[in-house]
Amino acid sequence: MTESTTYQGLQSVIWSGSRLDLLDQRLLPEEIVYLPLVSKEDVWEAIRHLKVRGAPAIGIAAAYGVVLGSRETEGDKPAWLQAVRDAAAYLATSRPTAVNLFWALDRMKARAEALAASDADLASGKEALLQEAIAIQSEDEATNRLIGEHALTLFADGMGVLTHCNAGGLATAKYGTALAPFYLAQEQGIALRVFADETRPVLQGARLTAFELQQAGVDVTLICDNMAGMVMSKGWVDAVIVGTDRVAANGDVANKIGTYSVAVLAKAHNIPFYVACPLSTIDLNTPSGDQIPIEERSAEEITEGFGKRTAPVGVKVFNPAFDVTPHEYVTAIITEKGIVRPPFDVNLKKLFDNV
Ligand code: MRU
Repeated sequence: MTESTTYQGLQSVIWSGSRLDLLDQRLLPEEIVYLPLVSKEDVWEAIRHLKVRGAPAIGIAAAYGVVLGSRETEGDKPAWLQAVRDAAAYLATSRPTAVNLFWALDRMKARAEALAASDADLASGKEALLQEAIAIQSEDEATNRLIGEHALTLFADGMGVLTHCNAGGLATAKYGTALAPFYLAQEQGIALRVFADETRPVLQGARLTAFELQQAGVDVTLICDNMAGMVMSKGWVDAVIVGTDRVAANGDVANKIGTYSVAVLAKAHNIPFYVACPLSTIDLNTPSGDQIPIEERSAEEITEGFGKRTAPVGVKVFNPAFDVTPHEYVTAIITEKGIVRPPFDVNLKKLFDNV
């Protein structure tokens, strides 16, 4: 694997030795502020309020949250293990949809349980648990690089590619999932034109995707969500690529609200619709999209987002943060282990054969 020398993106999660320095993504693109998080409560609050967001980044932050939570006890090994379990259970209540959160918490718990059952003393157990969180973060970086390499084989010089929400470096340890091929294309001198949906109501596309791609010098054009169909009808979009918060066993894909509409538009225009994600986002225990819990967020995100009232006081609001794109609309799912095509119910399982 060749490491990029050109990627200069902001790191969303930084372990500083004793605390978590977290980039406050709510303030982007106007302000770059790192928040010092010292407790599991700080991490829970940061996840719930979208200071850190994007499925892999949520998982990474939560893993460090377990480390912080486990340090709250002065007791012996059993007390430490209980603190780990308590922290994991607590952090699991922060947001419901991204399965990476639960994947990371389960991994941290399993590591702590193995350490507690081993001969390791408490001090080395604590250090090993921290190393597990660090590994989750560094593996994510390597994984995304591989996803980018596979995804880039689907794109050619001069193509227009549309993306929705932010599945970039800010949403992960580095590179992103759906945005990784854009960074790799740039390294290799392949010119891609990216269309970024602004992504109502929280504007991850405008505030984050347009920001990080522009910072990196990628050719990015920001559009409102309701312009995607028009842009496709002009023939400017050769492919769509998005990230995901959870892929069900049958290939149904939960992602940021509005993704389903983009998939339907892509099908109507005969444009391939790709989903990029690590294996940690694939949830074989969830049979189909119907069983994926969809987070609903506050009405204020729609009625007075960013401090400006744009709807009448008291109006009824429906604000699901995610939707499910049925697998029939998905051309391929790109993972670190390669490109998966239908039938997804058969081919997704094969990814886990030797894991
Ligand atoms: O509500 P958010 O900002 O956490 O939603 C993020 C998304 O929907 C991303 O597309 C998804 O998590 C993939 S990030 C690689």
